Amino acid sequence: MKKILVIGSAGQIGTELTPALRNIYGSGNVIASDLNPDVNPILKEGRFICFDALDREKMYSLVKENNIDTIYNLVAILSATGEANPQMSIKVNLGALNNVLEVSRELGCSVFTPSSIGAFGESTPFDNTPQDTIQRPSTIYGVTKVAGELLCDYYATRFGVDTRGVRYPGIISNVQLPGGGTTDYAVEIFYEAIKNMKYTCNLGAGTFLDMMYMPDAIKAAIDLMEADPTKLKHRNAFNVTAMSFDPEIIAAEIKKHLPEFSMDYDVDSGKQKIANSWPNSMDDSVAREEWGWKPDYNLAKMTEDMLKVLKEKLK
Ligand code: NAD
Ligand code: SER
Repeated sequence: MKKILVIGSAGQIGTELTPALRNIYGSGNVIASDLNPDVNPILKEGRFICFDALDREKMYSLVKENNIDTIYNLVAILSATGEANPQMSIKVNLGALNNVLEVSRELGCSVFTPSSIGAFGESTPFDNTPQDTIQRPSTIYGVTKVAGELLCDYYATRFGVDTRGVRYPGIISNVQLPGGGTTDYAVEIFYEAIKNMKYTCNLGAGTFLDMMYMPDAIKAAIDLMEADPTKLKHRNAFNVTAMSFDPEIIAAEIKKHLPEFSMDYDVDSGKQKIANSWPNSMDDSVAREEWGWKPDYNLAKMTEDMLKVLKEKLK
């Protein structure tokens, strides 16, 4: 059985990925960790360790002492927060990954590290964005993501480390709120629809972005880590997507369930600039071909489930 360490487990993705991993591999085989000690109690249903991923010695001893063979590295400063503090973004995003790769090289671990739609920029084709294309992002987040993709490829070819990863789109979920990204509006809109029946959107009409519901994000991570390595030609940074919409389209979908719901706009120019530089919709056919990626949720199915879960959670 795999022995797994999830680093950065207290964030939007880790809070749901960790229990999913524990269900599959056994609670005793999955250690959760984060810099933040104040985490969702679900993470403490198994072992939880508070530590700084920038501390390589601590990471090394944790991995060695617990015979860890697989690391899910979820540590990151997301796009909007990164623009407010580029130095922190470089230090955290690349520092944590560098430590994970070095420890994995020394101790023989497999590594999952997500990249993002943020790894693309204005010179990338916006529609049907290919797997292999121009990557000149204009955000520091994107710069760290491209560097991370390259570092993971380098450790695989140069040192034989089993690195794997996907380019996630905006992730929509209902357990842990998102942590400072540009796509956060697509989560907030559901909370505000349930709480206030109205929402003020910080991205403008016509801003199309790729999105995905959390169950598919978890499935992508686990399926890729279970995939037959001989079938993987890319290994890292697979485009994966489930849907593409703009604020008008998601608002209209919510209105089908909540006819009283209304939305207006107060555009955040910083976030809009970031969103304008990202793809409208990615081509994920390479992930489909190499490891059988296929999402379960489209916009209609995701909206129905989000509203059902949040009605219960927020009542
Ligand atoms: P998040 O911001 O919600 O969580 C990141 C976690 O990392 C936080 O719990 C934070 O406390 C922790 N962390 C920060 N610095 C740390 C350090 N030095 N040591 C240990 N822990 C530290 O992020 P997320 O949304 O869960 O994203 C996880 C990964 O997926 C990131 O690589 C992100 O870039 C990528 N991704 C996320 C999305 C999305 O929409 N959520 C989309 C594309 C890619
Ligand atoms: N959701 C992330 C962000 O907006 C995309 O990587 O930063």
